[in-house]
Amino acid sequence: MSSTRKRLYIKTYGCQMNVYDSERMKDVLTPLGYETSEEAEGSDLVIINTCHIREKAAEKLYSDLGRLRPFKDAKADHGGMTIAVAGCVAQAEGAEIMRRAPTVDLVVGPQSYHKLPELIARAHRARGEALDTEFEVEDKFDQLPTERHVEGYSAFVTVQEGCDKFCTFCVVPYTRGAEWSRPVDQLVDEIRRLAAKGVREITLLGQNVNAYHGAPPAGREADGPWGLGQLLRHIALIGGIERVRYLTSHPRDMDEALIAAHRDEFKIMPYLHLPIQSGSDKILKAMNRQHTYAEYAELIARMREVRPDIAISGDFIVGFPGETDADFEDTMRCVREIGYASAFSFKYSRRPGTPGAAMPNQIDEDVKTTRLHALQALLDEQQTDFNRSQIGRTLPVLFEKAGRLPGQLHGRSPYLQSVHVDGPAELIGRIGQVEIEAASRNSLSGRLVGAERDVA
Ligand code: 5AD
Ligand code: SF4
Repeated sequence: MSSTRKRLYIKTYGCQMNVYDSERMKDVLTPLGYETSEEAEGSDLVIINTCHIREKAAEKLYSDLGRLRPFKDAKADHGGMTIAVAGCVAQAEGAEIMRRAPTVDLVVGPQSYHKLPELIARAHRARGEALDTEFEVEDKFDQLPTERHVEGYSAFVTVQEGCDKFCTFCVVPYTRGAEWSRPVDQLVDEIRRLAAKGVREITLLGQNVNAYHGAPPAGREADGPWGLGQLLRHIALIGGIERVRYLTSHPRDMDEALIAAHRDEFKIMPYLHLPIQSGSDKILKAMNRQHTYAEYAELIARMREVRPDIAISGDFIVGFPGETDADFEDTMRCVREIGYASAFSFKYSRRPGTPGAAMPNQIDEDVKTTRLHALQALLDEQQTDFNRSQIGRTLPVLFEKAGRLPGQLHGRSPYLQSVHVDGPAELIGRIGQVEIEAASRNSLSGRLVGAERDVA
């Protein structure tokens, strides 16, 4: 281990799991003397953590690499700049990246981050020898440092990786491999340490998080694998943890135990990200989603029955092969019927190697664009309406930091809305009750009411 200070810049694309992975890469590199830098220029190590889900992300990598080139040249006589490509593009196209981009010194797949120190050393010896796109997840979590650097009061924790669903549009089952869940005890240990550092809110991450089936805690082996419902209840018991969330779920894996956990455990935030992708049964079938619109609507109704204050968010894809105007109308109808507090929507992107890419009746880009605009206008309207519906309610807000104006605090509601309120700085890291007075599409504001609860 070296004590020389070195500068590390990480650029993160894609989902929250990549955000988590970037944090863990920092944890691996801190003992080697790396300190995080806000800019690539002048850094000793630059990591681009990539996303492969839609095509533009891969193109962004190559343009980023082009932009890094002059910085790398400028640093050549000053200790050099090591450039690493991580994440799902690295996993899928590692060898091609090495061939196509001579500025890249090393390629590291999502399951090999614990080996970064060794890979950096190897890259310094000889370029081209530092490519690791191993598929085994198990090793990684055993070998990552137990200490995590955290900023703020809300943290992500990956509990599950990979996916066995094989939706026909999606690269995840190919890039991240088969479903794998971390053991309960390992997660409890990580979350306890976070709580001791002041973290109050945990978001459990997984590509298909509600398919979680991890090894039970010591002494409970007879239970067999634990599901997500059981895990959530267990985590809610950890001292200091006041809020639990999870991302991203598949409708097929919303089992009874998970639904019951939402009913009984008030630390599980009443906010569910449950993507449907399309409202058309024909398209759902072609996407291999393994459920119909009616089944999804029934599930949402159940969730609302057990947790009347629950809000729903989702993901949508427009322009999947074969999508007619009538199919798209079914998606619009689905959005009107379900009512979303927020949602992500995307144009279908043809991913090589997925069944969707080979399907006939690919949709023109301009048709996709028109549909996306119509869908987003409706979703934006629903988001604004949802935010406005909070006016007059009193919401618990976890204060994260000072607001932009003096004397102001910034926090998050149970629905992840940004909330601005005047209040004392001592409330940062704690939950206060806020009566909501105003709302826009992106944030709420109000006034502090009643006693603030010190959860520390
Ligand atoms: N094209 C467009 N959107 C996609 N997603 C996944 N694969 C594709 C694709 N090929 C979207 C889905 C998923 C989210 C993470 O990204 O909506 O839920
Ligand atoms: Fe991709 Fe999610 Fe479908 Fe898995 S469930 S294939 S991660 S969209």
